[in-house]
Amino acid sequence: MAEHSAYRPRSRSLSHWWATKINAFYRNLSVQDLASRLPFLSRISRKEGEAIFQLMTGFVDTQILLTFVRTNALEYLYERPRTVDELARLLGFEKDTTELLCRAGVALHLIKLRRDRIYLARRGALILGLPGIPELIDHHSILYEDLIDPKAFFNGKSPRKLAEFWPYVFGATDTVNDSDLARYSDLMTKSQFMVARDTLRAISVPNAARWLDVGGGSGAFMDQVVHKFSKVQTAVFDLAGTQSTRPTKHQFIAGSFFDDDLPQGFDIISLIRVLYDHSDETVKQLLTKVYTALPKNGRLIVSEPMLGDRNPNRFGDTYFAIYTMAMNTGKTRSPSEICDILKQVGFSQIKINASPRPFVTTVIEAFKK
Ligand SMILES: C[S@@+](CC[C@H](N)C(=O)[O-])C[C@H]1O[C@@H](n2cnc3c(N)ncnc32)[C@H](O)[C@@H]1O
Repeated sequence: MAEHSAYRPRSRSLSHWWATKINAFYRNLSVQDLASRLPFLSRISRKEGEAIFQLMTGFVDTQILLTFVRTNALEYLYERPRTVDELARLLGFEKDTTELLCRAGVALHLIKLRRDRIYLARRGALILGLPGIPELIDHHSILYEDLIDPKAFFNGKSPRKLAEFWPYVFGATDTVNDSDLARYSDLMTKSQFMVARDTLRAISVPNAARWLDVGGGSGAFMDQVVHKFSKVQTAVFDLAGTQSTRPTKHQFIAGSFFDDDLPQGFDIISLIRVLYDHSDETVKQLLTKVYTALPKNGRLIVSEPMLGDRNPNRFGDTYFAIYTMAMNTGKTRSPSEICDILKQVGFSQIKINASPRPFVTTVIEAFKK
């Protein structure tokens, strides 16, 4: 295992003999058959069966969801309930196909069928209401393409289109054209909303703080900071050209944390969804720059989705780990991995905040003493 491996085995390990025996037991078809007929075991057996089915077929669910987003079906149903005929006309599909799609949508709790009308269900409305979610669903088709041949993907032998979608990772703004910049800024800005909410709920800051958001893009996170802490002075440090075109209260400081030192004079520096874009080496260099820029008692806030520490989880260890891998330079880390680097750099009083929604973000605070 690599030095910074996220995987820290539990101290008590299963005996190999027992592990082999138990797996041979589960694999045995007669045992499976018997288990499905016994009162208690049949429940476990059915649950496992459903979970395996879900694992095998989840990609179909994802594509059904994508169809609802791409055809605007959710929006049409938000406007008002529709008949199948009406929806078929709007989507440009055959009536039979629309019926099939609607039944699938009901099964996924996106929509409801009542008499002869199709209604938007709560889940569908939530998807529309959460900023950035329809756009995220839409852009996942790029990752989906990258994963078509998973063996080649994990071998690093297939091209990764997601890495082209997020060109700023390479830090070369002159290779990024305006439409690419607008595309990623828009998605980042919209998907920032929930991250900012959870981050700002986790921490409290003094009113008169001076706060620099490094890699803050269009300032969407800082907008939320000002909204919650109106007296805080805010600044964003990011690559030239990434600042918002709308007027904001935040000072924008153009620069690259690869080449430039970070500006001083801020009590708080935040890195929101920045570390997971970069290699361990870059992260260590960046955190060293943050440490140098902060005054004594200055605070660092790191907020991004993370791996499960001892227990790999469904968000960090599946989706985000694969997503950042597809970006070539990225790496999702566990809270302890990030804390280890923070300690090496010199930070102390490191605190991992309990996250209400680890699929949105986990927040770590650290101080320069
Ligand atoms: C994943 S985005 C996160 C943006 C924002 N913090 C958020 O959560 O929405 C990463 C940000 O880091 C910025 N970035 C990447 N490389 C950078 C560099 N070398 N110097 C400064 N900013 C950089 C990008 O422009 C982008 O705004």
